Amino acid sequence: MAIEQTLILVKPDGVRRGLVGEVISRLERKGYTLEALELRTLDVETAEAHYGEHVDKPFFRELVDFITSAPLVAMCVSGEDAVAGIRGLMGATNPIDAAPGSIRGDLATVIGENIVHGSDAPASAERELELFFPGRF
Ligand code: RTP
Ligand code: MG
Repeated sequence: MAIEQTLILVKPDGVRRGLVGEVISRLERKGYTLEALELRTLDVETAEAHYGEHVDKPFFRELVDFITSAPLVAMCVSGEDAVAGIRGLMGATNPIDAAPGSIRGDLATVIGENIVHGSDAPASAERELELFFPGRF
């Protein structure tokens, strides 16, 4: 058990569909704390760095095109075991597999537009927070 910080994104589909408040509300109601929040459109370089682990995947270009296509909301969120806890609230990557009650299970239908990103491990959170909020966390 430890207080962790994690990078959460409401991706462009979530912003376009007016789901920013819904996502933030779920995080706040669960008990997590907002530490930073910014609406921004990602440049390609930042998007490629953020999703660098997927550079060799067939969907990489599509992923970068999508995440840079329109504004997203980037947040630092903190709380007890926040990294794994928020991954649970998000649900499985593919909304078809995401449990009802989770963000993706309740609000999305396709893998390429699954509304939220959350860091997948404390080390990823540290790297991603430095990319989005340099020097702040
Ligand atoms: P994220 O990084 O966005 O929080 O999502 P994740 O950890 O649940 O999933 P990850 O494996 O890191 O994949 C990143 C994003 O790439 C898209 N994707 N498309 N077409 C495909 O087979 C495929 N696989 C993954 C998804 O939008 C996923 O969120
Ligand atoms: Mg991921």
